[in-house]
Amino acid sequence: MNDKPLVLVTRRLPAAVEARLQRDYTPRLNIEDEIYSSERILELAAGATAIIPCHTERLSADVIARLPESVQAICSFSVGYDHIDLDAARARGIRVTNTPDVLSNATAEIAMLLLLGAARRAHEGAQMLRTDTWADWSAIGQLGIEVTGKRLGIIGMGRVGQVMARRARGFDMQIHYYNRHRLDPGLEHGAVYHAELDSLLAQSQFLSIHCPATPETQHLLDAAHIALLPEDAVVVNTARGAVVDDDALIDALQSGRLFAAGLDVFNNEPDIDPRYRVLDNAFLLPHIGSAARETRDAMGFRALDNLDAIVAGREPRDRLA
Ligand code: DGY
Repeated sequence: MNDKPLVLVTRRLPAAVEARLQRDYTPRLNIEDEIYSSERILELAAGATAIIPCHTERLSADVIARLPESVQAICSFSVGYDHIDLDAARARGIRVTNTPDVLSNATAEIAMLLLLGAARRAHEGAQMLRTDTWADWSAIGQLGIEVTGKRLGIIGMGRVGQVMARRARGFDMQIHYYNRHRLDPGLEHGAVYHAELDSLLAQSQFLSIHCPATPETQHLLDAAHIALLPEDAVVVNTARGAVVDDDALIDALQSGRLFAAGLDVFNNEPDIDPRYRVLDNAFLLPHIGSAARETRDAMGFRALDNLDAIVAGREPRDRLA
């Protein structure tokens, strides 16, 4: 008889991760990689010891309250956990874990790519070549903003924010940051701490968002906050779309109040606000911050390490609830 615990895996995962799941568990895999509704998740969770969701599945208080008794753990394949109601999980005694650390480099790489691409108008240049509209080299055409030596404001100086600061220092950028707590001075490497968001914004020629989506950070970057940024600032978001008020950001991009934005995350993915699609000064990517081969394997293994610990009755490394 097969007594390996049954695990519901809501999305297709990298081959090496699914192979480890097959070896150690009885996985209920999503071979077609379809997006499951909440009702389908509840159905498929029947008899499961654990669920491995991605950020694409919302495990609300209502869904968690209706999960079968068998479910002991939710080990998310993500560092973000705004899709899971932690209080509801705690109330049911369900352990919840995420996958921090392993995607910090990959996400900071995409943040840097967006920062450079937005500042140097990479999207427009690439479009000109693909649409055969490049007339000729011009001394006054396609002028972007030089990144080197500028001030970078970072909202959220956690793991990804700190890697972003390191990468940006390679471009001689001066780092400023806003965080709930000031970092240990040994970790600041000269970065200037701002206890108030307004004071950070006033300094941020470039602004990169790395805070989690929480009720407190919902629409943090709104019209009033955008108005505090220097003229021609560039905004980068690799955290969550919910941190940005789309109306305010789109207004500022349309009017030229901001020079550009580089965005990897959006409200209501994948049905993003269509106004973004026609903005030349928006450099857009489809939520690929962690989409590197090594990173996605590492995320899967980290989720499974957490699951292994819970099943063995040990404390998981990345416990959220
Ligand atoms: C994360 O891990 O939170 C990324 O956004 C991908 O889900």
